[in-house]
Amino acid sequence: MKLTGKRLVLGVTGSIAAYKAVGLVRTLLREGADVSVVMTQAAGRFVTPLTFETLSKHPVATDLFAAQQDMPHLTLPERADAVIVAPATANLLAKCALGLADDLFSTMLLNVTCPLIVAPAMDGGMWHHQAVQAHVATLRARGVTVLDPEEGPLASGRIGPGRLAEESRIMDALEQALAPRQDWAGQRLLVSAGPTQEAIDPVRYLSNRSSGKMGYAVAQAARERGAAVSLVSGPTTLTAPPGVDLIHVITAEEMQKVLLARLPWSTVVVMAAAVADFRPLRPSSAKLKKDGGYWKKLDLAPTDDILHQLSQQRRDQVLVGFAAETESVLAHATAKLKRKGLDLIVGNNVAAEGSGFGSDTNAATLIDRNGQVRELGLLPKRELADHILDVVLTLIRPRRKPGPSKGGT
Ligand code: PMT
Repeated sequence: MKLTGKRLVLGVTGSIAAYKAVGLVRTLLREGADVSVVMTQAAGRFVTPLTFETLSKHPVATDLFAAQQDMPHLTLPERADAVIVAPATANLLAKCALGLADDLFSTMLLNVTCPLIVAPAMDGGMWHHQAVQAHVATLRARGVTVLDPEEGPLASGRIGPGRLAEESRIMDALEQALAPRQDWAGQRLLVSAGPTQEAIDPVRYLSNRSSGKMGYAVAQAARERGAAVSLVSGPTTLTAPPGVDLIHVITAEEMQKVLLARLPWSTVVVMAAAVADFRPLRPSSAKLKKDGGYWKKLDLAPTDDILHQLSQQRRDQVLVGFAAETESVLAHATAKLKRKGLDLIVGNNVAAEGSGFGSDTNAATLIDRNGQVRELGLLPKRELADHILDVVLTLIRPRRKPGPSKGGT
């Protein structure tokens, strides 16, 4: 199932080919997609919303002014991985090219930021009209995928171009639009994630609230974008993203050893792990008794600063750190960037709602070695990971000498 987990919006407009959209919905569902259908009033003259509602198991949005609480013209495109318009009339092409917003679907199109695939269907004469061709050219120049209609018998009885693109072409275009970028191909990413645990005795330890989600998101994004990835993870409940080489560690010292050993292999290092800053100085080999008075005093020793060591031993690697802050994120993160000799630091406010430890979202400020600051709002960690990877690509230096092939996939 090629489209598992993908959310799609299918816009159906008023062409006789609207009946073919029913088959398309079934194919998209069969491939695992979650499909929401939006129809123009004219499309409703050819096929009823009930047909699409029954198949897609979602209400069909048709009216901008209906009392819909969740504003589908905003929420549907925001949640979508791609929007398909099939069939698209000449009227829809014109509205989309000109930015007209006089009904639900055309208004929704102004909120689309994901890939947009448009499959026109109309009579051949209309398709060849200069105005239609100008609108198609405008849309293509804007990055919209407009599929040329097929040649063949048309509803008018004529023969020519104008038939809705075959379903297989729409599916191919969709697959291509959803294919992840491969702009990290050739890079070798070493990424740390999760907490470390520092033993007090065989049953107790010092640790922190890191779930590993941030580091795993970076690993997954880089792998999907073509990088070889080694993920050095403290204890978490997460599963390694497909194709990622996962190395489990428990303590800060273990994490340090693995990261330093794999540094020469890497081209980029991202330290998303929440490494313990202190460890018990003398962990007990036997379980400490409650009445032994140990709770009154626990001697601690600082752990080594792994990032600082990595920065001292690196050759050309781009080094990215995170800064977990509860206030003055920009100032504290900038100080860490300089102190640790980094190329980029991701300052995150771990005290803000929905940000930092354990959550699926994070609010981050990216500061690079040139002093450029990028304030990102609250984003899903997977999306933030892509932003981080985008910035890292701008900071990569020409490689002096390839490292030995250790780690990665
Ligand atoms: O795992 P999640 O639940 O998804 O949460 C994500 C996160 C909040 C853990 C993550 O976004 C994050 O902020 N990670 C860094 C946490 C941290 O240790 O921040 P710090 O400001 O204390 O350390 C700064 C940098 O130095 C970090 O990159 C850290 O990995 C590194 N460090 C810290 C201590 C140490 N001994 N060695 C280090 O290399």
